[in-house]
This record gives sequence, C-alpha cells and structure tokens, in this order.
Amino acid sequence: MTWLENSWYVAAWDSEVDRAPFARTICGVPVVMYRKLDGNVVAMRDACPHRLLPLSMGIKEDDSLRCRYHGLRVGPDGAAEEMPLKTAAVKKAVCVETFAVAEKHRFIWLWVGDKAKADPALIPDLWPCSAEGWVFDGGYSPIACDYRLLIDNLMDLTHETYVHNGSIGQPELMEAEIETEVDGDHVRVSRWMPGVDAPPFWRGALKKPGPVDRWQICHFLLPSVVMIDVGVAPVGAGATIEDHDQGVRGFVIDFMTPESETTTHYFWGMARNFAADDPGFTAGFRKQQNVVFNEDIVVLEAQQRSIAANPDLKLRAYQIDEGGVRVRRIIDRARERQMEPA
Ligand code: FES
Ligand SMILES: [Fe+2]
Repeated sequence: MTWLENSWYVAAWDSEVDRAPFARTICGVPVVMYRKLDGNVVAMRDACPHRLLPLSMGIKEDDSLRCRYHGLRVGPDGAAEEMPLKTAAVKKAVCVETFAVAEKHRFIWLWVGDKAKADPALIPDLWPCSAEGWVFDGGYSPIACDYRLLIDNLMDLTHETYVHNGSIGQPELMEAEIETEVDGDHVRVSRWMPGVDAPPFWRGALKKPGPVDRWQICHFLLPSVVMIDVGVAPVGAGATIEDHDQGVRGFVIDFMTPESETTTHYFWGMARNFAADDPGFTAGFRKQQNVVFNEDIVVLEAQQRSIAANPDLKLRAYQIDEGGVRVRRIIDRARERQMEPA
C-alpha cells in the first residue's frame, strides 16, 4: 500500500451520513457508516460476518443493522444481537470489526490502523474550517488516480496556467519565485506576487481597484492534507508572506483519502474570511470550485491511465515538483517509522 496507517482520514462530509447505511471504501477497506438515534456516527466493516453480504444493503432497526440476506442482526458495537435462526442462541464471537470515528471541521474522520492508538487530538488541524469569522463549505469528487498524484497537483500550482486557463490561471504564476520549506512533517510551498493585477475572482472579492499583492502558500500535513492559503491585499496595505490578513483571504482545503492504490476520495472546499454572511457567495463559489477541480480530474485520470500504459517509464521531477517530492519523502519516512519495531 502507498498510504500511512495509524492516522485519521476523512471518510465523509458530516452531511453525507444520516440514519441510513452509507458505504465507502477507505484505504482499501469497505466501511459502512450510519448515525445512531443520538446522532453519533457508527463505522463498521461493510461485510456481514455470515456470508459477507455488504451490511450497507441491510435494514436499520433502531441503532442496529439487520443483514438483508439471512437476517443476522448486529448492534452498533459490532456484536451479534440476533442469529438468522431466531431460536438459535446468540453467539458472542460473531461480530463485525468497528472503527474509531470522530467529527470535526465538518468532516467525519475514520481512524485507519490500530484502534487502540486512535486519539482525536491527532486529527489534522484544519483550523480555518472552524475558526470564528470564517465560513467553510465544499464538495466531494471521486477520482480514478493515486492520491499522491493529486497531492503533486496541489503542491505545484504552475499547472493553473494551462489546466485552468480560463478560470484562475494568470501568467504571473509562472514568473513568481517559488520557495519550498520543510519543517518536520510539514511542507510549505510559497509564491508571493507583488504588485500584480488581481484576477477577476479576487478583484470581485476585494471590491477595490488598483494593483494587489497576491499570495499562494500550499501547506502539506500528514497523512494527506493540502491547505492552500490564497488571497490578495491592496499594494501598500502592509501584507507580507508571513502576515497577510489585510485584504481578502481564503484557504482551499483539500483532503485526499485513498480508496485503493489508484482511486481517491477527494474532499475539497474553501474556508474564507470575506463575505462571511453571504450564503449566495458560498453556493456560487462551491459551483465554481467544482468546475475548476473537474479540470484537474480530467488531467489526473488521464495521467493515471498513462502511467499504467507505460510501466517502463518513470515520473521525472523538475524544479516545480520540489513540493510534491518532499511530501512523498515525508509520507515514506512516516511509513518507515511505523514499521520499525517499538
Ligand atoms: S449473509 Fe448476512 S445473515 Fe447471511
Ligand atoms: Fe488545479
């Protein structure tokens, strides 16, 4: 496998899971999720312990799930509550694996790995998604590519010029210096574009004419998060690469959960500190972001097919790929650390 275990992964948006069984394969494991009557989420292996029919096809009965094949009933703790033959004694040993789950930053997180190590304090800090004065919303896209190709894409925004030609691309992106820094398991790729003409989206958000300082700072966090700090401030407002709350600012939030080695659940969104009381803006932006990310998906799925069709060729890294290369090294190192005997 290519991903890090003993980590929290986003399994769903909070609004995707209700009382009905919801199936999704997370890091190679089929999982069924549902909410109990008290609203808490249950996650268990999506396979009946009897003949492995997906439990997500089952029937909800209060907080329990009855298999749709022969009627085995399991509780939210995964243990059998009723055998297919109702007169048969309930066998304690019959149970389904359950997973640790947590809800934070509008997402349902699932712990992949040793359940005893699951600690909600280890959930990646997506602070703009929950900060006072910020709004956060987004969407979900399944993508037929290795999750790491998507991380490469997000850690190198020079692709915007060609892939997002008509939306967010601007020539200055190819000219601005890129700085890549690594601090422990955190990679930061920054681009500072002083005195540029704001592209239409940012011009509209800022609501002021004149040249702007524009920034794009990509942050990678384990196991699979990219948060991109983006925005513009009027020239002379005092914005710097370290401190830039003077204009309009947003964070593009990206969480890549592997489904398999070549397919990914992409959870994306935008947290912003402007137009915070405008739900119309939120809805419009979500649509726009979906259009932009669909442009990436076309490229990424074609890239994945090409990788499969050319097994004798290797990916090469140029200067622009430094962020992605560093991220892969960090993931590999973290995986090696986990494999070392304690
Ligand atoms: S397969 Fe589920 S009860 Fe038989
Ligand atoms: Fe893109």
